Amino acid sequence: MEPSQIIAPSILAADFARLADAVHAIEGAADWVHVDVMDNHFVPNLTIGLPVVQSLRKATSIPFDVHLMITDPERWAPGYAEAGAYNVTFHAEATDDPVALAKTLRAAGAKAGLAIDRDTAIEPYLELLPHVDTLLIMTIKAGFGGQKFLPEMLDKVRAVRRRIDADNLEVRLEVDGGIASDTIARAAEAGADAFVAGTAVYGAQDPAEAIRKLRALTGGAG
Ligand code: DX5
Ligand code: ZN
Repeated sequence: MEPSQIIAPSILAADFARLADAVHAIEGAADWVHVDVMDNHFVPNLTIGLPVVQSLRKATSIPFDVHLMITDPERWAPGYAEAGAYNVTFHAEATDDPVALAKTLRAAGAKAGLAIDRDTAIEPYLELLPHVDTLLIMTIKAGFGGQKFLPEMLDKVRAVRRRIDADNLEVRLEVDGGIASDTIARAAEAGADAFVAGTAVYGAQDPAEAIRKLRALTGGAG
């Protein structure tokens, strides 16, 4: 069974020449490893893609939480599910039919996640919650690590939490961007139960210890 609160370190803040070491450093402490795929099109930045995910998967048993910041997710997302990703999240802004894509991902053996970027309103997506496993609220503008947490995004988190609870849905509510020891408690209070942290984990001397500290701040039992 999954813990009540998920901590998902983002390897975007790790040393890309030592990704296997980066995942080994969080084993036993992290619940998921968050992998930011950027295509220099949906976002200006460019990171890693499927071949790296396929190789890295063999280096660890930590479940992969793949965050696709790419255009045309219908074309590329299923490959990540087939590569054994636990959860594959695509952006609401990148697709016309999120429900169909979520179905495809589930059929390919992954959990399906829908991400909402900073400038996108949450209301039109609340009715899609029964069709996804993960709802990711960006607490920054997607594209780069190390940005400042935007507290006004927590209104979206509260709106999603209300709907999940009211309708008794099994959906993970994930926050991504600027999550650190000074922000994670606010996100948890707003109702998030999965927390991506790049800089706060890989910028620390001891990434596993940083994860334990973050988890304690969520107030969750772990
Ligand atoms: C940014 C990515 C984030 C990023 C977070 O678009 O989606 O996952 O790694 O980095 P921090 O935790 O440094 O804000
Ligand atoms: Zn991310």
